[in-house]
Amino acid sequence: MILRSSRLSTKKMVAAGNGLFYPIVGFASCLALIYLSFGDLRSNFREEDHQLAFVKRNGTQFTSDGKPFYINGWNSYWLMYHGVDEYTRPRVREILQAGAKMGLTLCRTWAFNDGDYNALQVSPGQFDERVFKALDHVIVEARQQGIRLLLCLVNNLENYGGKSQYVRWAWQEGVGLSASNDSFFFDPSIRNYFKSYIKTILTRKNTLNGIEYRDDPTIFGWELINEPRCSTDASGDTLQDWIEEMSAFVKLIDKKHLLTVGLEGFYGPKDPKALTVNPERWASRLGSDFIRNSKIPSIDFASVHIYPDHWFHDLEVEDHLKFVTKWMLSHIEDGEKELNKPVMFTEFGLADQLDRFYKTIYDIIYKSAKKHQAGAGALAWQFIVGGMEKFNDEFGIIPWERPATYKLIIEHTCRLARIQGPVLEQRNLKELCLQKH
Ligand SMILES: *[C@@H]1O[C@H](CO)[C@@H](O)[C@H](O)[C@H]1NC(C)=O
Ligand SMILES: *[C@@H]1O[C@H](CO)[C@@H](O)[C@H](O)[C@H]1NC(C)=O
Repeated sequence: MILRSSRLSTKKMVAAGNGLFYPIVGFASCLALIYLSFGDLRSNFREEDHQLAFVKRNGTQFTSDGKPFYINGWNSYWLMYHGVDEYTRPRVREILQAGAKMGLTLCRTWAFNDGDYNALQVSPGQFDERVFKALDHVIVEARQQGIRLLLCLVNNLENYGGKSQYVRWAWQEGVGLSASNDSFFFDPSIRNYFKSYIKTILTRKNTLNGIEYRDDPTIFGWELINEPRCSTDASGDTLQDWIEEMSAFVKLIDKKHLLTVGLEGFYGPKDPKALTVNPERWASRLGSDFIRNSKIPSIDFASVHIYPDHWFHDLEVEDHLKFVTKWMLSHIEDGEKELNKPVMFTEFGLADQLDRFYKTIYDIIYKSAKKHQAGAGALAWQFIVGGMEKFNDEFGIIPWERPATYKLIIEHTCRLARIQGPVLEQRNLKELCLQKH
């Protein structure tokens, strides 16, 4: 049954994503309308554009089709997982469609599940084709909705396997040299497991559209690891060495896609900002170092997370918001002065006062974008659809069930569009941004 439905959707999707000829007639009449009403912006709707282009980088800016590209996006880590079973699969389309309806252009999601239920990697180098097909489906579906994907390759945390699963595997196979979970970063056998994983993912040929992942512009970029920490080496050397090796390895296979680390953004022990900007003292002892890690030449853009609830003890909401502003401005300044790279806030979550929190973050991104500074975008953690509360955490929302939040998100989409011009994938932009919310 799963096979049959995949085949059916193959046809439809190839037509929408790849078949550039047959939609042209319909498209041309749309074009005429857009020409008339969008005035100066019409040059953005040339016919050849409906093939998605790779997002590139020029200094601190992402560019799409040669123009600056600022991102309003979100996290739904669960897409592949829910894409496996026929009964949960519609959730993938539902959330991607909802994202497109809000004019969002990027979704960050897991391209891993190591040894857990519905595992993609069942054991080192062994993949479940059923789950791989679910990831194929996610990519094709995203393209159809005009959404790009930031795909993360492994978890530092133990959800969906993570680095501790790799360490267990190495023990079981008798090649692990240390029981420490941080041996994920330094054990040569485990490094090879992970490299072999990277290679399999990047060279995967999508069974639905025939495109290798490394050649697919639907993929915005790769993220090496979600929230890496290596507390057993607070000097940061171990993690730095791992990022250097893994990022170079990704670039060896795939030079077309952007690459980021997946950092939370903490400053390392030698950085003066460890004392002035890090949330608390523990944050500089985790073996990560925002500037040093992000400076590595094969890393294209910096990633930062924002979790004031988790990072402070006993802080009032007002102080949370003050911290958010300081934290973001500091990292945008790093992008400008230290890194000459875009800085993307790839996760932000707060349990209370969510609208004020979202607005604070969006305002900072907007101001940065207006000045063409390094603040490249922000991705909310996280969006779910109805019926999957079990997969939620304290931060997840169903955006369309929160009118005020929903409106904020769309307003942010529209003001970014006014800076950069419409992005072609945002097919509904005009309608979205001219209506009153
Ligand atoms: C990169 O940006 C600079 C200005 O910031 C511009 O002069 C240059 O042409 C851009 N390069 C490319 C390849 O777009
Ligand atoms: C590694 O992580 C797992 C899962 O979090 C934990 O149960 C285990 O105790 C950790 N191992 C060591 C040696 O800390």
